[in-house]
Amino acid sequence: MSKKGFTLWFTGLSGSGKSTLAQFLTPKLRELGVPVEVMDGDEVRENLSKGLGFSKEDRDTNIRRIGYVANLLSRNGVCAMTAAISPYRSVRREVRDGCKAEFVEVFVKCPLEVVEERDTKGLYKKARAGIIKNFTGISDPYEEPEKPEIVVDTAEESIEQSAEKVLEFLRSRSLIG
Ligand code: ADX
Repeated sequence: MSKKGFTLWFTGLSGSGKSTLAQFLTPKLRELGVPVEVMDGDEVRENLSKGLGFSKEDRDTNIRRIGYVANLLSRNGVCAMTAAISPYRSVRREVRDGCKAEFVEVFVKCPLEVVEERDTKGLYKKARAGIIKNFTGISDPYEEPEKPEIVVDTAEESIEQSAEKVLEFLRSRSLIG
């Protein structure tokens, strides 16, 4: 059984594998008796953050909302996983500071060339063509975390290896059994 809730905050470029990793980890954590909720970037933007765009201001608002819910969940014993790009360091710091339970930042690292090659949603092509403006990594910044608790490299590691890194960290902090 989990002893206390915590937030697993995934950050990384679009297509880096944040949601995939969160989804992969979900049943593994549940098997360990951990209650889990995933706040996926695209899904949040359809609901909690419907109507917000991709200016810095709107992205920061989106991240503050996700951080707010992550705090509510994690202080009540839930593992709150978030999978939004969250490109700006300052607002990531802000949500970390606002989280009463443990906050674990996972940098889902993947070179731009690789996510662009994957282009799972076809958005990088559109961003290169200028059809989508302010696209993270192309025409908008992504500020890499300076001291994330965990770094996974999805261009080099299998999903099992990345997930194991996360689980190992959680075990080392006694957040899971
Ligand atoms: S965040 O910057 O506010 O954290 P979020 O994770 O919610 O971003 O949304 C990112 C997703 O929105 C991307 O994976 C992509 O599918 C879509 N998207 C649409 N326009 C943009 C854009 N200009 N920059 C980044 N992602 C975009």
